Amino acid sequence: MYMIETKDLVKKFDNTVAVDGVSLKIQEGDIFGLLGPNGAGKSTTINMICDLLTPTSGEILIQGNKIGTMKNTIGYIPQSLAVYNEFTAYENLRFFGQIYNVRGKELNKNINDALEFTGLTEVRNKKAKTFSGGMLRRLNIACALVHRPQIVIMDEPTVGIDPQSRNHIMNAIRKMNEENVTVVYTSHYMEEIEILCNNISIIDGGKVIANGTKEELRNLITDKDTLSISVDNLYHIDVEELKKIKGVADVRVEDMNLEITSQKNSYNLNELLRYILDKGVRASNIGYKEVTLETVFLSLTGKKLRD
Ligand SMILES: Nc1ncnc2c1ncn2[C@@H]1O[C@H](COP(=O)(O)OP(=O)(O)OP(=O)(O)O)[C@@H](O)[C@H]1O
Ligand SMILES: [Mg+2]
Repeated sequence: MYMIETKDLVKKFDNTVAVDGVSLKIQEGDIFGLLGPNGAGKSTTINMICDLLTPTSGEILIQGNKIGTMKNTIGYIPQSLAVYNEFTAYENLRFFGQIYNVRGKELNKNINDALEFTGLTEVRNKKAKTFSGGMLRRLNIACALVHRPQIVIMDEPTVGIDPQSRNHIMNAIRKMNEENVTVVYTSHYMEEIEILCNNISIIDGGKVIANGTKEELRNLITDKDTLSISVDNLYHIDVEELKKIKGVADVRVEDMNLEITSQKNSYNLNELLRYILDKGVRASNIGYKEVTLETVFLSLTGKKLRD
């Protein structure tokens, strides 16, 4: 059984098809990333999962059940801030806890934990209106955690915030996940998704264009690895000889750099280095070139994730 499963979700707004047949399978313990550019349909998908929008068609199951009965399972962190400016951090959290019928000692403990989680303990008695953008984002997150949901869904929680707040948020997500909370994370920052998420769906134009782990997504666009080696001279290196080493598909020479492309899992690094070093060449820098999710997106859609 999946924590969240959507089947062929569609949402139309008048003439716009915002979500166009999205099927997702999110497992317990996942940090699931929904990656896509502006207008891809991320928020619309999330809002349907959280029962804030009614799908035009399709189905949503939370732990195998219809969403109506499962609302308390989810903590939803909206893209736009939803906190009360005149309330302190503590009062905001108490308010959101009470909405979910958390009371008494349990409420106090959960509030303290949520403050600690998001690094807001010291400012618990300050009004939200005095907070920086990053602190407000963190409070927005804390509010969704007070009822201890099993699933936390975050819609672009790091847009426009300072690095310190970003770190707090990243760490909070990891800690939550260690406590067996399933996290759904939407973003158009592929770096964050790459660092955090074990499973990823890339969406564009309302459709899922690829699914899988980072490795699976990278493998969609390439079955090769490129090794880059900077050397002090290329005089003795015979590119044709390098190409004879097992697994090597291509060798390019640029300035004082060798770029050697091999079939994945060729395990030929020793042979390549031995050849180069045997020629009396000094290597100064060596590394495999990374295929990022940005490259994957570009290759699948012909577009950049961000303009
Ligand atoms: N209430 C609405 N009425 C009409 N069109 C809408 C509405 N909400 C979203 N849309 C349209 O649906 C499409 C998907 O929007 P959505 O907000 O889901 O994208 P997103 O991936 O969350 O983008 P962003 O990264 O900018 O938040 C867009 O073309 C948007 O203009
Ligand atoms: Mg959005």
